[in-house]
Amino acid sequence: MKILVTGGAGFIGANFLKLMVPRHAEHHFVNVDKLTYAANLMSLSELEGRSNYTFERVDIAETEAVVTLFERHQPEMVVHFAAESHVDRSIAGPREFIRTNIGGTFELLEACRKYWQPGEGLFHHVSTDEVYGSLGATGLFTEETRYDPSSPYSSSKASSDHLVRAYGRTFGVAARITNCSNNYGPYQFPEKLIPVMILNCLENKPLPVYGKGENVRDWLFVTDHCEAIWRVIESGKSGETYNIGGHNEVRNIDVVHTLCRLVAQETGRSEAEKKDLITFVKDRPGHDLRYAIDAAKIGRELGWGPQETFETGMRKTVKWYLENTAWVDQVRSGEYRRWMDQNYGTRGSA
Ligand code: NAD
Ligand code: TYD
Repeated sequence: MKILVTGGAGFIGANFLKLMVPRHAEHHFVNVDKLTYAANLMSLSELEGRSNYTFERVDIAETEAVVTLFERHQPEMVVHFAAESHVDRSIAGPREFIRTNIGGTFELLEACRKYWQPGEGLFHHVSTDEVYGSLGATGLFTEETRYDPSSPYSSSKASSDHLVRAYGRTFGVAARITNCSNNYGPYQFPEKLIPVMILNCLENKPLPVYGKGENVRDWLFVTDHCEAIWRVIESGKSGETYNIGGHNEVRNIDVVHTLCRLVAQETGRSEAEKKDLITFVKDRPGHDLRYAIDAAKIGRELGWGPQETFETGMRKTVKWYLENTAWVDQVRSGEYRRWMDQNYGTRGSA
């Protein structure tokens, strides 16, 4: 089967392709990516030359480019990861989030409706638990939780979820949606909490904790997410939504403490010296307090559950960043550096 994987040069898409391309020689995977600041083809160098892998540099928000892509490859499935994915960037400049996350999803759905007869094809939409908004101190997000997004990022993802469902109901495009909690692991761009903290900790730079560090995220190791997506592709039902989460609710400050301990252990430095780097900075506007996923449905219906604990996944992640400095240097060059300098260089202490 020909499978288009959008956003395959990003964090989760690259982990997905690295797992699935070697494992599924019976499928041909076409990685469709615009190569924004968040992409790095170096993550996928081991796939170059494989007969069941092709890369296409395409902007999914461009109508003609998407039409050409479908004409050339005639895919039978789309696994849609491509997105602008960082909440802070969506606050600094929402336009690209609307363009890619809503407009890009729309272009893909239009192509699916045009090229697939009803009953043909499968559109797997990779979404986030952030569409549900914020939880208070208790409760979990289920597939029935009302959408209530807080940021331009999460509202653009919510819009794309609605479009996917609408194309299913109105035009018969067979679609599944997965809403996943926060991912971490190898190849995550160093603008998200965990890689920022690991790298700053290694380099003895301040560890910028927003507000009081009391916000809670439900962390999932990235390969557990990729396996869950494949399980839904193979065994899920079209028209259904599946929540994916790690049962790993941790306050941000506790994430940072854990990373200080692991980095100190892996480098033979003092944990106290690393914790001294923690700096409480101005809070994010509209900062959701708590995310936590009820993953009972995917467990009960499809038999999926996470393999990594927070401790094992975090240790793997710290080791990976320690051992892959060339990857880190590459993604930190150019546009990323300028953006970081503009947006974080001036961030003052709270
Ligand atoms: P990422 O930012 O690391 O990668 C996104 C990729 O999409 C990049 O390779 C980028 O070049 C590509 N892209 C962006 N705009 C594009 C466009 N117009 N055309 C083609 N390609 C484009 O993101 P990620 O963390 O890997 O997230 C992947 C998906 O998973 C996203 O849809 C995100 O909403 C969702 N998700 C992420 C998390 C998380 O914790 N990272 C959790 C749940 C869901
Ligand atoms: P992030 O990794 O940006 O993911 P999301 O906003 O999608 O959940 O942030 C995770 C949490 O960490 C969130 O509560 C914001 C916080 N945070 C910090 O405290 N400091 C940082 O430097 C970053 C990037 C995030």
